[in-house]
Amino acid sequence: MVSAPPTPYEEYIRVDELLALHSPRTDAPGEDLFIAVHQVSELWLATLLRETGDARRMLLEEDTEGAARRLRTAVDVLGQLTGTLNVLCGMLPTEFARFRTELGTASAAQSPQFARVIKACRGPGPSLWDAFAALAEGQGGLVKIYDAVGGGPREVAELLVDLDDAFGAWMSAHWRLVSRQIGAAMGTAGQSAALLRERMEARLFPALLDVRPEFHRAEEVPAP
Ligand code: HEM
Repeated sequence: MVSAPPTPYEEYIRVDELLALHSPRTDAPGEDLFIAVHQVSELWLATLLRETGDARRMLLEEDTEGAARRLRTAVDVLGQLTGTLNVLCGMLPTEFARFRTELGTASAAQSPQFARVIKACRGPGPSLWDAFAALAEGQGGLVKIYDAVGGGPREVAELLVDLDDAFGAWMSAHWRLVSRQIGAAMGTAGQSAALLRERMEARLFPALLDVRPEFHRAEEVPAP
């Protein structure tokens, strides 16, 4: 029997090639899910890099409206990363144990795209933060930005906080997944759960939180 030619959809999306990349090494239940979740996560990380890169370029051109749109998409993508990750909560730790040795020393901690996302956001080097900081500087600083009514830079500042929160939510979901799957056992890349937990707290744009007390000074109630 001659198989049907691929539809224009299959050709455009490259469905066959995509599915061919999905090849679990064992028939242990959960490994297919484990690989799919990581592969999907890498695709989302690539999207995140494009969106944050575009947002940075737009900030350098002082196009705050364009940057805000890209940042909204980036926040949504991080939500997808969290949702995708949570699918793995359905895998039993005993199922994971059946194929975990296949990983060897492989760990998503080695994901170059993950490292690139962090660098693209907070540096060192050219980053979303340095582009925003330059814009804020040109407007008299962070406090001034928040004083401006309906200002584009303030909208961008709050979206950067949203992005930071969405990133933290992803890392926190990851921590919870790790806890329920392996508890305090050592990771395949040799890192301890404690180290992972410590890094989970790291912020992408700490200066945006550091400035918050400034907004409340005027409202401090004098002692009676
Ligand atoms: C059963 C599922 C998972 C387990 C048990 C797990 C476990 C771990 C562990 C123990 C580490 C520390 C490094 C090491 O391996 O020694 C780590 C790091 C990491 N994992 Fe996972 N992980 C899981 C799923 C995922 C998924 C689906 C992603 C999505 C891409 C992911 C992304 C990361 C990243 C980015 C790091 C580095 C975090 C950092 O440096 O702060 N992990 N993981």
